[in-house]
Amino acid sequence: MKKALSFLETTIGKKVVMALSGLVLFGFVIAHMLGNLQVLMGPEVFNAYAIGMHSLPAPIFWGGRAVILIAFVLHVTMALQLVTRTAAARPVPYTKKKNERTTYAALTMKMSGLTLLFFVLYHLAHFTFPGVAMGAYEHLGYTQVYSNFVNGFSIPWVTALYVAAMISLGFHLYHGSFSLFQTLGLVHPKRNHIIKGAAQIVALTVTTGNIILPLSVTFGLVS
Ligand code: HEM
Repeated sequence: MKKALSFLETTIGKKVVMALSGLVLFGFVIAHMLGNLQVLMGPEVFNAYAIGMHSLPAPIFWGGRAVILIAFVLHVTMALQLVTRTAAARPVPYTKKKNERTTYAALTMKMSGLTLLFFVLYHLAHFTFPGVAMGAYEHLGYTQVYSNFVNGFSIPWVTALYVAAMISLGFHLYHGSFSLFQTLGLVHPKRNHIIKGAAQIVALTVTTGNIILPLSVTFGLVS
């Protein structure tokens, strides 16, 4: 236990926790997108999907939620600790940054990470603990998730906000998956282009799948 805690104090320990919690969140994001795409199959299918999820045996339902929440908290905490540690280690910034590519990736991760943090808080207030942005409509609870979906995305600024957040998520997934391979020691100059290519395809697929969701209401595919 003591060993594990002191490993967590090291920079590599924090990076490993970030990589593993990121992997859990990544799995959730893919599953969530596939689940949400069922909205294109109509109200019966989508409402039945939401009701089915909420009817899972309590240990699975709450256990799943707990795993996602723990992964999310760990991911954000480690990110904040690593950022403050780096800033503390270098109180005077370099006059000229040497590796522009790494700097760009690190800056993108900070910006997209912060955007996603606010997005998730907003998103939970939107659909899960409702209270915002259903416009003239009321939130009808998870049994009517199809109507909530249509009502929520009938407001153009909400759709715009989701689209922007999903583009941010795409960048986060792209750079995040490459960092994950780096942290786990799986990068190699000979196969880096394959890893980057795969990361780009995955990020683009998730971004496209997620952007289709709000836009399906805008373009009347879901109504
Ligand atoms: C366009 C993209 C997205 C759409 C349309 C969407 C839609 C939804 C909907 C309709 C719900 C409520 C489901 C229910 O009540 O059963 C929900 C819940 C949730 N969403 Fe999303 N989502 C999107 C992206 C994301 C992303 C990128 C994340 C995380 C990074 C996320 C995290 C969550 C979480 C944590 C919940 C609560 C799950 C629970 O109740 O246990 N969503 N989402």
